[in-house]
Amino acid sequence: MHVSAETQKGVFLTRVVTNDPVCRDHWRFVLEVRDFPLTEPGQFVQVLCREPNDDATPGDGAYIRRPFSIAGLSRDNRVTRIEIIHRLVGRGTHWLSHLNPGDSVSILGPLGHPFTLAEDRPTAYIVGGGCGLPPLIWLARALRASGKTVIAFCGARSADLLPLTRHRQAQVLTDQPTLAVTEFADCGVPVLISTDDGSLGFAGSAAQAFARYLHAHLEEDSSAVVYSCGPDAMMHATADLAEQYNIPCQVCLERMMACGMGTCQSCVVRIRDASDPKGWVYRLCCTDGPVFDSRVVIWEN
Ligand SMILES: Cc1cc2nc3c(=O)[nH]c(=O)nc-3n(C[C@H](O)[C@H](O)[C@H](O)COP(=O)(O)OP(=O)(O)OC[C@H]3O[C@@H](n4cnc5c(N)ncnc54)[C@H](O)[C@@H]3O)c2cc1C
Ligand code: FES
Repeated sequence: MHVSAETQKGVFLTRVVTNDPVCRDHWRFVLEVRDFPLTEPGQFVQVLCREPNDDATPGDGAYIRRPFSIAGLSRDNRVTRIEIIHRLVGRGTHWLSHLNPGDSVSILGPLGHPFTLAEDRPTAYIVGGGCGLPPLIWLARALRASGKTVIAFCGARSADLLPLTRHRQAQVLTDQPTLAVTEFADCGVPVLISTDDGSLGFAGSAAQAFARYLHAHLEEDSSAVVYSCGPDAMMHATADLAEQYNIPCQVCLERMMACGMGTCQSCVVRIRDASDPKGWVYRLCCTDGPVFDSRVVIWEN
C-alpha cells in the first residue's frame, strides 16, 4: 500500500469476498481491504482489471485501470468492505466478472469529490439510471443515516437490465414509490422504478417519472435537494426540472477516464464561469468532480 499523505489516496491490494450477477448485464463484487482512507459517497476507485503483479501485459484483462463508483462501504476496525456494481461493457469488466472469492485486485483511491449532504434540506430525491445507480445506493444509506427523508427514482432500459435486487414481497407501482428494491428498502427508502420499454414500473426514464411525481406532489419544494447519476440526457432533464422547482441539484458525471487523478486531461467537462471571457472553463471530471452542482454544468448531450 502506498498512500499519498497529501490526499490520502493510494494503491491498495484487496481481496475479493463475493462476485455475483445482479441482472442480465450487471455484476456486483465486494472487496476487502485494510486501512482504506476516509471515503464518502460519490467518490470512485480506479480498478486494475488484470492480475495485480502482471506489469508487462494485460493478458485477458485491460492495461489501464477502469473507474468505478463505490456502491457501498462498511468498516470493521481496520478492515473496509467496498461494494462495486458494474455493467459488462468490454475487456476490463469481463475480466472482473470472472473473479473468484479470494482473488487479489489492485485499486487506486479514493478519488474525486463526493456528494454534499445538504444539512439544511430534510428531503432528498435521488434520480438515477443504469450504471449511474451504484453511487446512489451508498448515498441513500448516508442520507438516511443523517436523518433525511429520501425518495428514489431508479431507471433502466428494461426490467432485466435493472442492476438492483427486487424485494419479492413488495409491489412495484407505476405512480408511487414502494419498498420494492432491497438495496434501498434496507435503509427505508421507497423507490419508483421506471423502464424505457415499460416492462416494469413507470414507462419512461427516471427523470420522466420524477417529473410526474413532482407535478403531482409539489408546487415548489424549498426544503428538498436532488441527487442524480446516470446517462447525461437523464441528468440534464433532472437538472432542468430541479431548476424549474428551485431545488438544488448535484449531478455525478461519468466521462471517459485514463489516469483518474488529474494528469492526462482526458475527462474535461465545460463548467459555467462568469469570470472567464468565454463564460465557461474546462474542469476535470476526475478531480474537480465527478459530482458538480447541476447549475454550472454545460450539457453536451
Ligand atoms: C467516475 C466514474 C464512475 C463509474 N462508475 C461505474 C459504475 O459504478 N458501474 C459501471 O458499470 N460503470 C461505471 N463507470 C463506467 C466504467 O468505468 C466503464 O464501463 C468501464 O471503464 C468499461 O471498461 P471495459 O474495459 O469493460 O470497457 P472498454 O473495453 O474500455 O470499453 C468498451 C466500450 O465501452 C465504452 N466506454 C468505456 N468506458 C466508458 C465510459 N466511462 N463512458 C462511456 N462509454 C464508455 C468504450 O468507448 C467502448 O466502446 C464509471 C465511469 C466513471 C468515469
Ligand atoms: S482522467 Fe486523467 S485527468 Fe481526468
